[in-house]
Amino acid sequence: MNARLIPAEDDISGRRDADPVRLTFEGRTLTGERGQTIAGVLLANGIQSWRTTSYDRRPRGLFCGIGVCYDCIVTVNDERDVRACQRRAHDGDVITAQSDELPVVKE
Ligand code: FES
Repeated sequence: MNARLIPAEDDISGRRDADPVRLTFEGRTLTGERGQTIAGVLLANGIQSWRTTSYDRRPRGLFCGIGVCYDCIVTVNDERDVRACQRRAHDGDVITAQSDELPVVKE
């Protein structure tokens, strides 16, 4: 299924292939397995950063992996600020990267 996973027939643990899920990220179709988080699907498909910081436009992706840092936020089916490390991937999810401008401070 992906480069990080041994094919089920070669896995001595007896694992079977899981149900596939298909989602899109920035228009690109990705395949994952039912039960994976969105961050898991992105990483398994070779995508390591999926947003940029407001200041300096630095790339961000998975940092803590446990829902604390909010570095992994994405937009899922038009819902903003979803933590990719906490949301399970569902068939047909449409994921888009988030990149927000800093608010302008008026003096
Ligand atoms: S990686 Fe820290 S909240 Fe998702």
